[in-house]
Amino acid sequence: MRLIKIRKTDRPKRLKLLVLNGPNLNLLGVREPNIYGRKTYSDLTAAIAAECKKRRIRVRFLQSNSEGVLVTAIQNAYRRFDGIIINPAAYTHTSVALLDAVKAVGIPTVEVHLSDVSVREDFRQVSFIRAAAEKTIMGKGIDGYLEAVAYLDEKYGGGAGQ
Ligand code: DQA
Repeated sequence: MRLIKIRKTDRPKRLKLLVLNGPNLNLLGVREPNIYGRKTYSDLTAAIAAECKKRRIRVRFLQSNSEGVLVTAIQNAYRRFDGIIINPAAYTHTSVALLDAVKAVGIPTVEVHLSDVSVREDFRQVSFIRAAAEKTIMGKGIDGYLEAVAYLDEKYGGGAGQ
């Protein structure tokens, strides 16, 4: 875990968050609903957008099945976004490139997983991105993303209803 210190005075006028989702998360609702639930990807983005609106946070979303697209999105976030929320999906367990990208831009990042990967298969016990993430939230479904929004908002000195 890498904690990036933010002073209250560093809070931008309006926080800008980037929410990245990796492969197969576009199939939420269809994909193994016993593990990932029945809510769709658009339900997910709608819930995050509503939370951000409440907190007066600007938010952008990207889902991609391609590792390179996600790496480029992280690179492009440099100096444009104040925080990243990322569920790298299967790339969690394989991608040094995503880890390096998050390290390179130095943007406070929260790793989120819908399922509790800690109690699943052995190959899901490795997370490359975790070394660059300030926080990991898992097993809370869509609420995990909302918790990540709250974490980043509070880090910058904000809070719900402000
Ligand atoms: C996931 C867990 C990963 O192991 C898996 O490959 C995913 C989704 C989750 O949100 O629980 O695609 O990141």
